[in-house]
Amino acid sequence: MHASSGIDLFDDATLADPYPAYARLRELGAAVRLETHDVWALPRHASVAAALRDPATYSSERALALTDSVNDRLLVGTVVGTDGAAHARLRRVLSRQLAPRALKSLVRDMRERARALVEALPRDGGFDAVTDLAAPFVAGVVMRLMGLPEQDRALLLDLADATFDTFGPDNARTRAAFPHAEEMFRYLDRVATRDRIAADSWLGAIHIAVDRGDIEESQAVPLMLSYTVAGMDTTIHAITAALHLLAHTDQWALVRDRVVPTEAVLAEALRMEAPIQFFGRRTTRDVRVGDTVVPAGDQVLLLYGSAGRDRAKWGPNADTFDITRDSRDHLALGSGIHQCAGNHLATLEFDAVLDALATRFRTLAPSPDRAPTRRPHNILRGWHTLPLVAA
Ligand code: HEM
Repeated sequence: MHASSGIDLFDDATLADPYPAYARLRELGAAVRLETHDVWALPRHASVAAALRDPATYSSERALALTDSVNDRLLVGTVVGTDGAAHARLRRVLSRQLAPRALKSLVRDMRERARALVEALPRDGGFDAVTDLAAPFVAGVVMRLMGLPEQDRALLLDLADATFDTFGPDNARTRAAFPHAEEMFRYLDRVATRDRIAADSWLGAIHIAVDRGDIEESQAVPLMLSYTVAGMDTTIHAITAALHLLAHTDQWALVRDRVVPTEAVLAEALRMEAPIQFFGRRTTRDVRVGDTVVPAGDQVLLLYGSAGRDRAKWGPNADTFDITRDSRDHLALGSGIHQCAGNHLATLEFDAVLDALATRFRTLAPSPDRAPTRRPHNILRGWHTLPLVAA
């Protein structure tokens, strides 16, 4: 007998607050069959970590999203959806741009951009941390690096959010998002062409990799998704999750006075609120997970959002935001060969925003008259609006 559950991780109420469902799944077992979606959930930190570090058993090919149409039509050939030597080849193209050494020269620009946005926030007045700060900052940085025109920023943010939404089961959100995700491909075909994209940009580097014979022409657009999709909402949600949690506790002073480094704040925010709540894998052999054998060929969901709250890993206060704890083992950026290629960039972006806020504001608090809002999303967890008051 294996553990199973009728929990639907994708109904609106569960998406609004998935943590009670995650706690129930962790209690049920290391691998729990989700009856509604015909997949296995891995809700515990230890089993998610073990799966991430065993890509030979847990394949990413045709496995990341819950529907075949998305795995077969949108994710084939992406770096995140490819195994083995082919994955390594694709990843090498990105690594040149995203390695810490390559990013060093961007730090000044990022800090200036963050300072300018923070300086423009009203003194003693409220602001929206999503629309006034995190979204324009992240999209501004990434659009320029990709080499895409600034005026397409809002469109790109919409298409990226929709592409992630298609990772869900065959529900209304996935179906509504699918055409927008397809539009991302058409957009890149139309706009990210050799004659329109600067050679020294991230997308330009992908064309150069094709010309050098490092990758095939047909791999260029799927590889571009590594930036256009993976590099925006994830970081926006990480920044705003941290600001929300900081505003609701008394820990801002520790950030403001530089007592706790911003990397530690980011790690703790990612542990508490993984911007990507899960990715799928497909088993290549029968594999024992706890006391269950998951058969070869089945799909498993690695629940990053649940792993971050696992008391077996994080102790009895796992649900408490505490920037002084050591959260470095969190899995919200993945682990192993598919570990987030953009993690250095995300860390620098996060640091630039927190540093700018810490330089200007002594206090950070929730807006007294406007509540933050979320929009249910199949895979991303983040704020749609986040009104704060800083002084
Ligand atoms: C805090 C922000 C971010 C979070 C939470 C995040 C999360 C993740 C996660 C969980 C994975 C693992 C996928 C897996 O195991 O299958 C991943 C992979 C990836 N991320 Fe991020 N990401 C962030 C920022 C970024 C940025 C800024 C970029 C690029 C500009 C980026 C590009 C990628 C790419 C290309 C991969 C695939 C790596 C591979 O398959 O080898 N990410 N990310």
